[in-house]
Amino acid sequence: MSGLHHMLVHFPLGFWALATLMILIGALLPGRMAELSRAALLPVLVLSLLAALVAIASGLLVWPIEASTSSPLARNHILTALWSLGVFSMLTVLVWRAGSTAFDGARRWVLLLLALIGISIFATTGTIGGHLVGATTQFSELLKLFGWDVYHTFFVPTWVIAVMVLIGIVCAVLGLKGRRAAL
Ligand code: HEM
Repeated sequence: MSGLHHMLVHFPLGFWALATLMILIGALLPGRMAELSRAALLPVLVLSLLAALVAIASGLLVWPIEASTSSPLARNHILTALWSLGVFSMLTVLVWRAGSTAFDGARRWVLLLLALIGISIFATTGTIGGHLVGATTQFSELLKLFGWDVYHTFFVPTWVIAVMVLIGIVCAVLGLKGRRAAL
C-alpha cells in the first residue's frame, strides 16, 4: 500500500495546486484566462476532493492504525491531510452554491484567503509525508521559524479552539442575517 499511497497523493496535491492557481487567476486577473479559470474551477475542486478521499484511505492503510496514531509525525500528517480536505471542501461548497457569482465583489477575497490557507496546509501535509519517508525539505525549517517542529504533535491551546468556534458562530450569524436582508 505504501507505493500506492506515494502514487495516489500526487492527485489531490496536483488538483489543489491547480485549483489555487485558478482562484488566483480568477480573482486577480482580467480577461479570457480568468473567465476560463472561474468557469472550470468547480470540476477541478470536485476532482480534488475525490482524489483526496482516495489518498487518505490509502494513507490509513500504509501502516497499522496503532502505529500511525502512536507517531507524532504521522499524527501531524493525518491532521494536516484532514484540514486540507476541510478547507477545500469548504471552497467547493462555496463555489458550488454561489455558481456564476462566486467571484463577485468581496466573495473573491474569501475564496483567495481560503485558497492561500489551503495551499499552506497541503504543502505541510506533503512536507510531513516527505519526513515520513526520510526526504526532508526546507519547508519544515520555515514551519520551525513559526514555532512548530513537525516531529512534535501539533498542539492548539483550548482558548484558540474557543476563539475559532466563536468566529465560526459569528460568521454563521452574519451569513444568515445577510441572507435574510437579501430576500
Ligand atoms: C490528502 C492526503 C494526503 C497526502 C497529500 C499525503 C501525502 C504524502 C506524501 C507526499 C508522502 C511521501 C511520499 C513520497 O515521498 O513518495 C506520504 C507518505 C506517507 N503518508 Fe501520506 N498523505 C495523505 C494522507 C495520509 C493519511 C491520512 C495517512 C494516514 C496515516 C498517511 C500516511 C502516510 C505514511 C505512513 C507515509 C509514509 C509511507 C512510507 O513509509 O513509505 N497519509 N504522504
